[in-house]
Amino acid sequence: MTNYIPEPFRIKMIEPIHLISLEAREAALKRAKFNIFNLRSDEVYIDLLTDSGTGAMSQSQWAAMLEGDESYAGARSYERLSQVVKEIFGFKHFVPTHQGRAAENILTAIALKPGQFVPSNMHFDTTEGNILARGGKPVNLVDEVAFKPEAIVDFKGNMDLSKLRAFIQEKGATNIPFGMITITNNAGGGQPVSMENLKGVSKIYHEFGIPFIIDACRFAENAYFIKLRETGYSKKSILEIAKETFSLADGVTMSAKKDGLANIGGFLCLNDDAWFEKVRAELILREGFVTYGGLAGRDLDAIAVGLMEALEEGYLAYRVGQTKYLSEQLLASGVPIVQPAGGHAIYVDAAKMLSHLKRDQFPGQALTIALYREGGIRGVEIGAVAFGHDDPDTGAPVYPELELVRLALPRRVYTQSHLDYVADILAQLQKKPKAIGGVKMTRAPKLLRHFSAEFELLSP
Ligand SMILES: Cc1ncc(COP(=O)(O)O)c(C=O)c1O
Repeated sequence: MTNYIPEPFRIKMIEPIHLISLEAREAALKRAKFNIFNLRSDEVYIDLLTDSGTGAMSQSQWAAMLEGDESYAGARSYERLSQVVKEIFGFKHFVPTHQGRAAENILTAIALKPGQFVPSNMHFDTTEGNILARGGKPVNLVDEVAFKPEAIVDFKGNMDLSKLRAFIQEKGATNIPFGMITITNNAGGGQPVSMENLKGVSKIYHEFGIPFIIDACRFAENAYFIKLRETGYSKKSILEIAKETFSLADGVTMSAKKDGLANIGGFLCLNDDAWFEKVRAELILREGFVTYGGLAGRDLDAIAVGLMEALEEGYLAYRVGQTKYLSEQLLASGVPIVQPAGGHAIYVDAAKMLSHLKRDQFPGQALTIALYREGGIRGVEIGAVAFGHDDPDTGAPVYPELELVRLALPRRVYTQSHLDYVADILAQLQKKPKAIGGVKMTRAPKLLRHFSAEFELLSP
């Protein structure tokens, strides 16, 4: 037996990657205004910026793409995807969208009025952004344990049910057009939500007549954690667990760039007829006709095959095995991370690793920069830059609880030796954390600021 699960595929086509020199990396950082979103991919050696749309497609997906039907309306590709979505998700209505945030945009456009609240365990930034852009108020009600990086808990993405009930009672159900939950909880460490919790959340929303929408981007990884960790699920298939999950809800927003194993795409599913009428109108206005929703026919086919591949247990064991393996390497060299390892990423606790830096020196951003400078590795800050903001009344900075750097693993892309390299570079940084100075934010856009903020380095 080994303590790792070897890749359940062999490599048929390669994409060369290079580690450019230290001087070139430093120059790239300067040009990028120390925001890693401004780096060119050629300047990056190991790209762990996101697991979204960055995966490798299988030979079956590429083969399916050749069968793509590019008809404007009623394409066969749409029928094929529609069938798979019906089989897994089971909702009455489904429309493709160009990616997850487009589904969020449509949902908030048709259902949300200014001043209304949308609770969730934790909204991801695009969901939060879409709610805010419509004048709504995103509310995070995850269990407090999510904010304790070292606490080893099976379902750290669970919603706090008493907080949810109290919140609805306080604000009134009429001020909550829909409630959400994110599986797995990307903003809180890629941590899963248990079936028991999903049932509890569904029960509370429905008791108050609030539609329950699941942000389902990583539904297969969540289902796999349920199978591994929750009593009564070890003998159920991932498909059965997924079906049970969605039977609790009234709709989903989905980015197929994650557990759709595709490079682009998403969708919105709903049961409600009246809402769906409005969705159709909004979709046609902004995305495209209802049978393609901003995608090519071949994209729909890639997603149809990818969704089924994401349910394969051999694939999921390897997938979750990769994050586990990397987490073990990092813990062995004392790098503080959110535990246990999540489904799609490792989250380094930058606040702890760079404890000499204050919050307004953005330790997460500082570590992201150091990781690139040292090893050409691109991670992403998930802390005060991504989720902080200035209080609209006082102008004072408001910081999120956690200050993390996310290392997201693209699906089926990097091998175990790439992971060893990442672990080695972080171990080197961990030996001399005080050599890493803080940063000053010199440009701070109001919405989704980590995509386009700019920084200057402060001396260590
Ligand atoms: C939990 C979650 N929700 C929504 C989205 C948005 O999806 P997309 O990037 O396809 O717009 C993401 C993307 O990272 C996500 O992780």
